[in-house]
Amino acid sequence: MRLRTLLVSLCVYAVTAVPVEQTAEARFAKTNVLNTLLQSLPSRSRMILEARLQNASPALKSKLGLSDLNKRQSDPVTVALLGSLLNEVQLWNTPRPTSPVPEVQTSKSPLLNGATRHKIRYGPYRIPPTSEKNLESQLTHTSGLTDTIKVNAKKPCTGDCILLRLGASLEYADGTVAKQANGAWLHHAVVLNFGFQVRDAVCPDGLQGYMEHLFETGNERTDIDFTLQNSSIKSGYHLRAGDTFLINTELMNMEDKEKWTWLTLTYDVIDGFPAEYKEGKVVWTSIGPPRCSGVPDVNPFGQTNLTKSQQPVRTVFTEYSIPWVSRKNGWIMGSNGHMHDGGTSTEVFKNDQRICISYPHYSMGGHGMGGMGHDKRQLRAGNHTNTDIEHIDVQEGCFYTDPVPIKKGDSLYIRANYDFTAHAGMKNKKGELDEVMGIVGSLIAFDYPY
Ligand SMILES: *[C@@H]1O[C@H](CO)[C@@H](O)[C@H](O)[C@H]1NC(C)=O
Ligand SMILES: *[C@@H]1O[C@H](CO)[C@@H](O)[C@H](O)[C@H]1NC(C)=O
Ligand SMILES: *[C@@H]1O[C@H](CO)[C@@H](O)[C@H](O)[C@H]1NC(C)=O
Repeated sequence: MRLRTLLVSLCVYAVTAVPVEQTAEARFAKTNVLNTLLQSLPSRSRMILEARLQNASPALKSKLGLSDLNKRQSDPVTVALLGSLLNEVQLWNTPRPTSPVPEVQTSKSPLLNGATRHKIRYGPYRIPPTSEKNLESQLTHTSGLTDTIKVNAKKPCTGDCILLRLGASLEYADGTVAKQANGAWLHHAVVLNFGFQVRDAVCPDGLQGYMEHLFETGNERTDIDFTLQNSSIKSGYHLRAGDTFLINTELMNMEDKEKWTWLTLTYDVIDGFPAEYKEGKVVWTSIGPPRCSGVPDVNPFGQTNLTKSQQPVRTVFTEYSIPWVSRKNGWIMGSNGHMHDGGTSTEVFKNDQRICISYPHYSMGGHGMGGMGHDKRQLRAGNHTNTDIEHIDVQEGCFYTDPVPIKKGDSLYIRANYDFTAHAGMKNKKGELDEVMGIVGSLIAFDYPY
């Protein structure tokens, strides 16, 4: 009974956190809002969260009063949200470690006089041992994996504030860093900010326009800057009192030993909205399918060189993103690229002029940015093992002290260059090349409100 009450109240909380009734946008059903939110998550996360509830044991469903769920719930989103909560509920009786580390740690920000740094710990998240047979291992053939979402996650300020920088890490109960060397892998963490004052620049149309990919990181744990020191323009992400956060994590165990971890997000903020600050938005451009749902999958640069699950079909190739077209005038402050092993450079173009080329650095014992897909693919990866080869450990970005102007109607796109003869790629269990990535976040300063 207690579990059921908890589940129901969590769901009501999750659903009412979506500010649908505030404006003319009330015509959108809540489920549509939630559906769009979930569509914005990495597809594997969404699939796992949906499947978790469908696959819950009849006994557990009955205990939770959800036996007729499949009949009542045709909406996959509500199912996924419930699925995520079920993850929590299933662990309700599992002893979890207590942590002496406070949930919020506040200090002076080193970025700017008058700015504050808040480090917030979210969790704990259980990472299953690699021998555990669970939904994730059945669905993805990847062991030790767990996927979660948290709606209405704690924000760094309760009123309005400007976000200058955001960074992520993973920690154990005592505050030590959980990393590959001690058996934990932060596959991804995604922070979506949504609300009726949110205006997304990447996917501005329909409901997607009210939710913004504020932050995405993989195991390399790169910070995202919404301001640049020494730039002639002041910028920052305007976080409003009415905005809501959703956090999705995918964590992986490298060892056959259960782990409890906390995701940490470190925010540098200034209170209020000082007038001299422009709106700093990160505009994401990536190779592969369109970033926005409901748009045609057509790339003006021709046929893709990737399979549906992003595996390369050639050993040496270049791949362009679908161009993004700006709807406002602004200033490009800088760009930061991310590739997987095998990548040699990422280029950024404004209209057809190259404004940035960035190179990944490889080292032995690097993070090894690779996917964990398991679909059919064409290319063998070679005779190495993943620990034999150099991995990308960092990729430098481009930062402009004199920002590059971008006008309404201008386009921005990237070209990712791969050469698996120069750098071996990560391989899967079958010895095939794993998924490739090319993604760039460009910081653009626009007038506020955007
Ligand atoms: C900003 O300028 C100062 C003084 O020239 C320099 O020490 C600092 O490294 C610069 N910061 C960045 C991020 O370029
Ligand atoms: C795929 O590779 C070919 C040959 O390098 C190139 O012309 C084409 O533009 C690439 N496709 C995309 C979508 O970038
Ligand atoms: C891998 O090893 C086999 C057996 O030694 C050899 O025949 C093959 O050419 C090697 N493949 C590569 C890509 O080096």
